[in-house]
Amino acid sequence: MNVKISLFPVTAILGLRHRILRPGLPAFTAEFPGDADPDTLHFAATIDQEIVSCLSLYTSAWEKSGAWQLRGMATDTAFQRQGLGRRLLDYAVAEAVVIQPSWPIWCNARISAIDFYRKANWTVESVEFEIEGVGSHVRMLWSRP
Ligand SMILES: CC(C)(COP(=O)(O)OP(=O)(O)OC[C@H]1O[C@@H](n2cnc3c(N)ncnc32)[C@H](O)[C@@H]1OP(=O)(O)O)[C@@H](O)C(=O)NCCC(=O)NCCS
Repeated sequence: MNVKISLFPVTAILGLRHRILRPGLPAFTAEFPGDADPDTLHFAATIDQEIVSCLSLYTSAWEKSGAWQLRGMATDTAFQRQGLGRRLLDYAVAEAVVIQPSWPIWCNARISAIDFYRKANWTVESVEFEIEGVGSHVRMLWSRP
């Protein structure tokens, strides 16, 4: 597989985000606050120029200090469990650390994705909570290996 990973404009990833994370809901539900912020980083993995995995990093806060929030982590159904999401996540985390070395990176993880993040060195930092219309989540935090 000829996989390439790089930054993309948000418009390039909205289709995949919508298909995987908001199926059956109106397209605008896949647009997140901060998507157009110049500090937001949208990464995607492509195969033959087709976007197959995506994620976004937003400037945010963790315990009242600067942090990245990861959102919109999605791999196309046909390409899941082939290592693409992990490659993309590792790439994005490495880039984020270069830009802001001291910032923690956190996310609200779907319960079904907890083990995906755990394998990449993320830890659960909250009890389970509900995000309306999306489902049960926990807050997770990336730790340097
Ligand atoms: C969760 C998701 C992004 C993972 O992407 P992916 O490309 O399938 O992940 P990878 O193939 O890189 O998996 C990396 C490792 O995590 C494991 N893994 C992936 N998804 C998993 C899951 N849902 N539960 C448990 N383990 C999982 C893989 O088996 C692999 O393990 P290994 O290193 O021991 O082989 C993808 O399945 C997805 O888009 N799911 C639907 C949307 C979603 O839940 N997004 C997360 C929102 S918080």
